[in-house]
Amino acid sequence: MKKLSINLGLNSYAIIIEDDLLFHLSFYIEQIYHNDKIFIITDDVVAKYYLDTVIEGLKFRYDVETIVFPNGEASKNIDNYVYLVKELLNKNIRRNHLLLALGGGVVGDITGFVAATLYRGLPYVNVPTTLLSQMDSSIGGKTGIDFAGRKNIIGAFKQPKLVLIDPRVLNTLSQREFNNGMGELIKHAAIGNKELFNKLKSKPLIDENIIFESLTVKKQVVEKDEFDVNERMLLNFGHTFGHVIELKYNYKHGEAVAMGMLMAIKLGIDLGVTKKTCYEDILAIIKAYDLPCEAFDYKAYLASAINDKKNLAGKLNFILLEEIGKAIIYPIEESKLKELL
Ligand SMILES: NC(=O)c1ccc[n+]([C@@H]2O[C@H](COP(=O)([O-])OP(=O)(O)OC[C@H]3O[C@@H](n4cnc5c(N)ncnc54)[C@H](O)[C@@H]3O)[C@@H](O)[C@H]2O)c1
Ligand SMILES: [Zn+2]
Repeated sequence: MKKLSINLGLNSYAIIIEDDLLFHLSFYIEQIYHNDKIFIITDDVVAKYYLDTVIEGLKFRYDVETIVFPNGEASKNIDNYVYLVKELLNKNIRRNHLLLALGGGVVGDITGFVAATLYRGLPYVNVPTTLLSQMDSSIGGKTGIDFAGRKNIIGAFKQPKLVLIDPRVLNTLSQREFNNGMGELIKHAAIGNKELFNKLKSKPLIDENIIFESLTVKKQVVEKDEFDVNERMLLNFGHTFGHVIELKYNYKHGEAVAMGMLMAIKLGIDLGVTKKTCYEDILAIIKAYDLPCEAFDYKAYLASAINDKKNLAGKLNFILLEEIGKAIIYPIEESKLKELL
């Protein structure tokens, strides 16, 4: 068992990482929740694999209700939000009842948003079941839905009361979903933990230690910047170019981030900021996890990437690596970027 404490004053919470945790969630939930009712929100795929197990482990202690919606990003929308709120009200939820998100980032983000808004805020526990949600979206308190063709455009910061991670559930993930999560995990290692990065080269089993290390990188950044105005930008390494690729092609987020990292490294090398060996280092790991590594020329994407960035008085902040394990926020004058093109 590994425990990580996220220290955000009154919004602090613990993350527990433990094999087979899914069988006895109540052991940890009892420590933070003393009412009698829990509302589980999950998607149909996760429900098929794990809902019975979770209910079995809760029902001797709690009265459990469940709401299941179709899996996939398309469910992270306003109609589904309305559906969830109506279902919860039909089931007589009260403002001191607990929501439990059981699933990947889609379930976590929309359940968190319901928890942030229904009755102006309900407690919720996150039980992330994809690699991406376990090592990334379960920390940070960002919740929300997609709207008007834009991702995560409506949302709120809302910290869970507790995050419970069972690495064993990763066994049922498709290879592509697993590798997609690896994209972000490689990013965490690249920006903040060289030892973890070197470990990943040999494709180790993703166990509680590796998830812990990856979450620790994000924890250190999030604790300094709960509301995403400064340091948290470091987590966007690979995302400026990644977002452009994700929108343009049919890549998953983690896949696009993998390519975005390669492009950001090329940019950093051209600017004389990034150590040249970083490119081969990251390329080797990206290939090992079958993530796409087509050699997109960053210059062709720079103009779109500039549009994607917040323009701060003529300067653009890029996240660059100095070396593996060390990312920096690097402000570049727009004019200097244009020289590169
Ligand atoms: N809040 C944040 O900070 C944050 C960070 C990163 C990503 N996100 C969001 O997360 C979402 C993506 O999350 P995701 O990649 O987890 O996608 P997802 O929730 O859609 O899950 C991917 C697929 O895996 C299935 N699945 C989930 N767990 C499984 C398991 N254990 N075994 C088998 N199948 C399983 C799901 O049913 C789904 O079909 C995006 O909407 C993104 O915006 C949020
Ligand atoms: Zn990301």
